[in-house]
Amino acid sequence: MINFLLCFALLITLLSSALPFKLALALGNETDRLALLALKDELLLGGSGIDISRNSISGSVPNNLGNLKNLRLLNIEVNQLGSGKEGDVEFFSSLRNCSMLSVLSMHMNNLGGVFPDSVANLSAQLYELRMGFNQITGSITQGISNLVNLYLMSLSENFLVGEIPSSIGKLQSLEGLWLYSNFLTGEIPSTIGNLTRLYALSLHTNNFTGGIPPTLQNCQNMRTLSFSDNKLSSPIPNQVFGAFPSLIILDLSYNSLTGALPSDFTTSKNLIELTINDNNFFGEIPMIQSLEIEVLKMQGNSFQGTIPQSFGSLRSLKFVDLSSNNLSGIIPPQLEKLPLLVSLNLSFNQLDGEVPKEGVFKNVSGFSFMGNRQLCGGISELGLPKCSNKEAKGKGKVLSTKIIIAMVISIFFAFLLAVTIVFLSWRRKSKRAFLPVALFESSGDRMRIKDAIIELHATKARLVLDWDL
Ligand SMILES: *[C@@H]1O[C@H](CO)[C@@H](O)[C@H](O)[C@H]1NC(C)=O
Ligand SMILES: *[C@@H]1O[C@H](CO)[C@@H](O)[C@H](O)[C@H]1NC(C)=O
Ligand SMILES: *[C@@H]1O[C@H](CO)[C@@H](O)[C@H](O)[C@H]1NC(C)=O
Ligand SMILES: *[C@@H]1O[C@H](CO)[C@@H](O)[C@H](O)[C@H]1NC(C)=O
Ligand SMILES: *[C@@H]1O[C@H](CO)[C@@H](O)[C@H](O)[C@H]1NC(C)=O
Ligand SMILES: *[C@@H]1O[C@H](CO)[C@@H](O)[C@H](O)[C@H]1NC(C)=O
Ligand SMILES: *[C@@H]1O[C@H](CO)[C@@H](O)[C@H](O)[C@H]1NC(C)=O
Ligand SMILES: *[C@@H]1O[C@H](CO)[C@@H](O)[C@H](O)[C@H]1NC(C)=O
Repeated sequence: MINFLLCFALLITLLSSALPFKLALALGNETDRLALLALKDELLLGGSGIDISRNSISGSVPNNLGNLKNLRLLNIEVNQLGSGKEGDVEFFSSLRNCSMLSVLSMHMNNLGGVFPDSVANLSAQLYELRMGFNQITGSITQGISNLVNLYLMSLSENFLVGEIPSSIGKLQSLEGLWLYSNFLTGEIPSTIGNLTRLYALSLHTNNFTGGIPPTLQNCQNMRTLSFSDNKLSSPIPNQVFGAFPSLIILDLSYNSLTGALPSDFTTSKNLIELTINDNNFFGEIPMIQSLEIEVLKMQGNSFQGTIPQSFGSLRSLKFVDLSSNNLSGIIPPQLEKLPLLVSLNLSFNQLDGEVPKEGVFKNVSGFSFMGNRQLCGGISELGLPKCSNKEAKGKGKVLSTKIIIAMVISIFFAFLLAVTIVFLSWRRKSKRAFLPVALFESSGDRMRIKDAIIELHATKARLVLDWDL
């Protein structure tokens, strides 16, 4: 395995002193020498990047990267860098001299130490910061707000404690924020509502308390949002999630949220997963306006009233769990028509009347009903008593024009979404256009520099290394 520090030391020596040219001359011919010079110019003068991602490189990250003043990209993600202890992220302070740094990705390594204050001194050009899946401790510093051009920040799966600094509201370019699986506490700051471009917000598996900030409704581009597995309480403020027309995934599960949900709880026509289980919600089950909905998890609350007949028109439904609530009335027979439904859990409610026989109700392992009051009928394998003939089936009428209009609208939104995704990925691509001129790849105990021009002196770099060893 290559020792990263050694490689880097070599590379930087190679780039910043005259020595390598002697080496190059000694080891190669004129063509190689010119190509090496070109590489040096690229790294020192031109827009340049270092990408050694997705290797098995161990060791520490050198703290003389500041010598590469024009460094734009540093991608060391998915390696085994760091000791998991103090000192691993000291290289941040040297990066303050890299005033053009735009992308810094170090996720999935073994980098430890306290979240560096010197993050505040990184280039204001930085638009991508990925530090997730490391061993970083300490708190996110207020100074993070200096990085005003960040559009993507991921600090997930670390050991961060303390609160989200309120200054986060200054990162107005932010589109994706991932802080899940840390030990963060305190309230979700209301300044999060300043991040109006946000489309992904993942705060699950922390210890956040308090309520959901009403300002969140300003984030109208929100597509995926997860607050799951925290200690959030109080009712959901009016019109927060209803204000997100493009919401695709909403996960509020495993909190202590309470209150009745308004009928416009979600208005998105694109919602695919709604997961609000294991809270203290009560009142009626909210309307679902998305015909795309596949997953509905509402178990472990105190919902009451009946299962809406309208669920019978949500033809994408696959998994529905309404168990452990206080639902009463009959099982709407329309549910047997849902073509994709494979799992329906209605256990531990107060349901009565006839169990349908078709669709998911034909599948003994897909349909759970124990702990209800007076169910009857169903397929014989369920072992329920026969229904007395007063049970009315009460088929709801199908409002086909409404469905057609809803489909047209959702196709329109799907089209908008597709355009947005294409636009975003195009934007990202165009932002990344300068990407790496130097791509390093290690295999076994060799380092290879690949890519067109650099291919030529692949031999050279290896020679230098071997020579040094
Ligand atoms: C220079 O050396 C490389 C190998 O390092 C070789 O492929 C190339 O043909 C040589 N060029 C000349 C002009 O000798
Ligand atoms: C940054 O650059 C200054 C002057 O150009 C130099 O003195 C200093 O050592 C550099 N700092 C780092 C951390 O590279
Ligand atoms: C680093 O950032 C902090 C906080 O913004 C600031 O006080 C300090 O002067 C900065 N240091 C340098 C060397 O830029
Ligand atoms: C949350 O706090 C509890 C103690 O109150 C602790 O046991 C648990 O590990 C914490 N979880 C996280 C993810 O911080
Ligand atoms: C952020 O939002 C708060 C209210 O939530 C507001 O007072 C503040 O001016 C906003 N800051 C910026 C930089 O927009
Ligand atoms: C149905 O829900 C009950 C109560 O929440 C749970 O105990 C049971 O395991 C669930 N059944 C299935 C098949 O998921
Ligand atoms: C369940 O609903 C019934 C009315 O349908 C109500 O009387 C009862 O108090 C509810 N129980 C709980 C635990 O919410
Ligand atoms: C029956 O239900 C199980 C559990 O949800 C599911 O894995 C299986 O695909 C279902 N079978 C059919 C024929 O739908």
